[in-house]
Amino acid sequence: MAGRVAVVTGGTRGIGAAIAIALKNAGYRPAVTYHGNDEAARKFTAETGIKAYKFDVADFKQCEAGVKKIAADLGPVDVLVNNAGITRDATLHKMNFEQWNEVIQTNLTSCFNMCRCVIDSMRERNFGRIVNIGSINGQAGQYGQVNYAAAKSGIHGFTKALAQEGAAKGITVNAIAPGYIDTDMVRAVPPNVLEKIVARVPVGRLGKAEEIARGVAFLVADDAGFITGSTLSINGGQHMY
Ligand code: CAA
Repeated sequence: MAGRVAVVTGGTRGIGAAIAIALKNAGYRPAVTYHGNDEAARKFTAETGIKAYKFDVADFKQCEAGVKKIAADLGPVDVLVNNAGITRDATLHKMNFEQWNEVIQTNLTSCFNMCRCVIDSMRERNFGRIVNIGSINGQAGQYGQVNYAAAKSGIHGFTKALAQEGAAKGITVNAIAPGYIDTDMVRAVPPNVLEKIVARVPVGRLGKAEEIARGVAFLVADDAGFITGSTLSINGGQHMY
């Protein structure tokens, strides 16, 4: 339904920005969150007119305050896209606790934090759409990513559990598992490693952020009410199961 309020975490760059723009173009009223990069946020808002809210999705109290502010500005949240994520790649024998913990908190605990802050209002209104951005590397694992793979795999379990709880209240909860998408995160992978990864993608290229946004727009639509607890893989055929 036109005018629904949509929140996209980590929404000023990369996949999140493409999602927010796609939702705006589809008639939603999006807000985005970001944590560190003020310059990117200013540029995003100037270009799109979509307001960016600065808070740390890994911190429950900041999420409470942030969601409250968004709801006061735009109205109660109908659509939540948990997209914010970071990498701290290293093989386990070189990984320290901070690298483990930062990724778990930012990528997985953030889903609890944000869902917890919108769920009461969605339940009261008998409507909600939640999409959690997982990863091919949560489905298949990835050398150098025990932290990221664990967090993303956790997102897939979280999605299926919350989908069962939300079903009777008109709240759908789905995940998208992107493959390697052309974003800053993927561009940070050493070129020789990335080359080998792309060589294993049947479609033969990196994905585009807009190709993930297309999946989100599909899942959050009002007439997608029978799609819940599913994972939509968008990975150019790199991993099929
Ligand atoms: N499988 C098997 N062996 C591998 C390997 C792999 N995938 N990747 C590297 N190795 C091997 C190397 O060949 C090397 O072996 P030799 O010494 O015998 O040549 C050994 O492991 C060490 O490799 P590095 O020199 O690269 O070791 P490093 O400690 O400097 O770096 C690393 C390790 C951090 C994991 C680095 O290889 C890396 O960044 N890899 C990319 C990881 C990746 O794909 N991250 C995804 C980020 S994007 C994302 O996460 C988005 C998403 O959702 C898809």
